[in-house]
Amino acid sequence: MKGIILAGGSGTRLYPITLAVSKQLIPVGDKPMIYYPLSVLMLAGVREILIIATPADLPQFRRLLGDGSHLGLEIDYAEQAHPGGLAEAFIIGADHIGSDSVALVLGDNIFHGHRFSDVLAENAGEVDGCVLFGYAVHDPHRYGVGETDAEGRLLSVEEKPARPKSNRAITGLYFYDNEVINIAKNIAPSPRGELEISEVNQVYVERGKARLIDLGRGFAWLDTGTPESLHEATQYVSTLEHRQGIRIACVEEVALRMGFIDAEACHARGERIAKSDYGRYVMAIAREFVG
Ligand code: DAU
Repeated sequence: MKGIILAGGSGTRLYPITLAVSKQLIPVGDKPMIYYPLSVLMLAGVREILIIATPADLPQFRRLLGDGSHLGLEIDYAEQAHPGGLAEAFIIGADHIGSDSVALVLGDNIFHGHRFSDVLAENAGEVDGCVLFGYAVHDPHRYGVGETDAEGRLLSVEEKPARPKSNRAITGLYFYDNEVINIAKNIAPSPRGELEISEVNQVYVERGKARLIDLGRGFAWLDTGTPESLHEATQYVSTLEHRQGIRIACVEEVALRMGFIDAEACHARGERIAKSDYGRYVMAIAREFVG
């Protein structure tokens, strides 16, 4: 399975913060926002990852993550000149996907919860159709919304409906089979001029090939779209990290635990940034790992 992180857009609701820097590079807690979706793909076992960003922002992502080899990954980069919609990721990323299945994650989506790694591992890999992740919210009209029958089968997916048929938001993590490239190429732009991911998902629903996994209560899917929600996300991450002495979305730790790198490589990465608590944490994890 290949991975794509969509990290374009202009983050207008965060101006002036995002006037000169990409939204997905600003901090949430002690690390750049993109570490969170990156760690999700890594936990799903995905190692070949394409980062899509605006031409202006791409060099900074490259500076941060390079070719990914320090994390045992292969990271490539591609430009999205204009925000033509989430589904454009499959057209831009067609060569990267090749004949494989693909996991798409939005660069501004933060997921955290007990047994999330298990859920990812169980559903990634060989996908037949698509796998979507639902989350109950109080304001579903702001998202893609999934309507399910009594057995939890997905009946429809609508983008930002004025009258949502359920409170089930479709989160920004999606697993697809290879058909997604063709489907994305054949949908028409929406009235707002975008290739909508919900259109793609609706095609899978109509083919009877869409599964919805409920992330459930006690799970955190955090918004980062406004200064307030960004602040709340930082508070959430900092509170948990401080209380438990662990770190959320520490990509070096994830790489080590997933077996993508060894303890020595992990320690070396921590050493490069040892003046920060984050760097010292990475070194401590590496030492602990060897026992
Ligand atoms: O966060 C989940 C939601 O994301 C889903 O429930 C919706 O179905 C989906 O359409 C999307 O809704 P948003 O309103 O959040 O989409 P937005 O336009 O804000 O884009 C989400 C992220 O993707 C944002 O960080 C910018 C980036 N983006 C967006 C577009 C349209 C791109 O990189 N390229 C694009 O063309």
